[in-house]
Amino acid sequence: MMLAPKKTPPGRSAELYQRALKVMPGGCSRNTVLRKPHPLYAAHGEGCYLTDIEGITRIDFANNMASLIHGHAPPEIVDAITEQLRLGTGFTMATEAEVRFAEHMCNRAPSFDKIRFVNSGTEAVMSALKASRAFTGRAKIAKVEGAYHGLYDYAEVSQTSAPSNWGTIDSPSSVPVAYGTPASALDDVVVIPFNDADRAITILEQHTDELACVLVDLLPHRIGLIPAEPEFVSKLREWTRNNNVLFVLDEVITFRCNYGGEQASHNIAPDLTAMGKMIGGGFPVGALAGSDAVMSVLDPLAETVLFPHSGTFSANPITMTAGRIAMELYDQSAIDRLNALGEQARAAIADAIRAADVPACVTGTASMFRIHMKPNPPSNYREAYDKAGEDALRREFLDYALDNGILLVGTCTGMLSTAMTGKEIGRLADVVEAAFRKIRPAFERQSLA
Ligand SMILES: Cc1ncc(COP(=O)(O)O)c(C=O)c1O
Repeated sequence: MMLAPKKTPPGRSAELYQRALKVMPGGCSRNTVLRKPHPLYAAHGEGCYLTDIEGITRIDFANNMASLIHGHAPPEIVDAITEQLRLGTGFTMATEAEVRFAEHMCNRAPSFDKIRFVNSGTEAVMSALKASRAFTGRAKIAKVEGAYHGLYDYAEVSQTSAPSNWGTIDSPSSVPVAYGTPASALDDVVVIPFNDADRAITILEQHTDELACVLVDLLPHRIGLIPAEPEFVSKLREWTRNNNVLFVLDEVITFRCNYGGEQASHNIAPDLTAMGKMIGGGFPVGALAGSDAVMSVLDPLAETVLFPHSGTFSANPITMTAGRIAMELYDQSAIDRLNALGEQARAAIADAIRAADVPACVTGTASMFRIHMKPNPPSNYREAYDKAGEDALRREFLDYALDNGILLVGTCTGMLSTAMTGKEIGRLADVVEAAFRKIRPAFERQSLA
């Protein structure tokens, strides 16, 4: 298989983008795929390789934003889905596929007594927040500054706050992402700093009786892919339990870290967990799982249904089949092998940074890494926030990587798939070192500026 030999030629992709611009805002349906001068357009993928319509093949470290845990078109999933496609793709009836997948998932984590499937991580987080409100009868939610949890009004508050509007660290402001976000939504979100348990609890205590839940991602990608410190997690868990506030984990990305998700690594049982991405085996998915008591708010058989919940495509048999097979294949030995490969990737990147002698660093856990254009890993959102020049360095780095056969997420993040081996990690390390050597003068200009 030939890897990208030279710069991407401005061929069919440029033409397609001109057509796309006429029919979609910005020429796309998801901002994630945009890049200048135009997006790359995928033709086909196989395992950990992705070929664009110009015929250029790259190693795929983006894996559709961490959703393809087994890479592209794994044969076991393709076969099962093909069979299901012939039987039908969705019915106004329940399916056995849903029951089998629910049974598998409930066996993976002790905190999963019951589960419900939806179609995206956004919907899973939204459902977790609504379930928390229904259970507690309270409106407010607390979330970590800078953490990404999808597009629900409340969940996205302060996801992009900036020095000009983020307020003091002792009282972070609730900053909207979308123009027109109702002020009432902002008022109902309490923003806490990451990995600062005492400060977070002091803030929470000002709202105890109004809070439905505290929402946390244990490895927030937008805060630099740095792990939550055990003390931060255990203190928040204890505080929520003592104050009858629910503890909700967003494991949309982190469920890959361990057989029972990153909650297993921390040995904690949240009240609710939102999931998505890789549990769909490549298809649109979200899930909400939790204790019998809390999940009972969704029970349509109850005398009073506290949280009526439905969705046309929820638990469709294509996603349920693909998801179950993906998760069955992702057993403990697959997880151990992938996490070891992640460790190898982070070590190789750190070596490459040292060899190229640039002020960069690498973070991550399990099967994920993120490369930063700064010498030290950030420890919270305010430190992770881009300093002047970092974005330009990142773009130069990403362009070099793309031109040399490596596809990363736009934040310089990589999410491994089980289709990868040491060979792909070796290639990654070579390209990272060469990219840093190439852009080293740009780092030097930054430090002189
Ligand atoms: C941690 C986290 N939560 C929620 C979401 C939203 O998931 P989706 O894009 O499927 O709506 C994402 C997506 O990137 C995410 O990373």
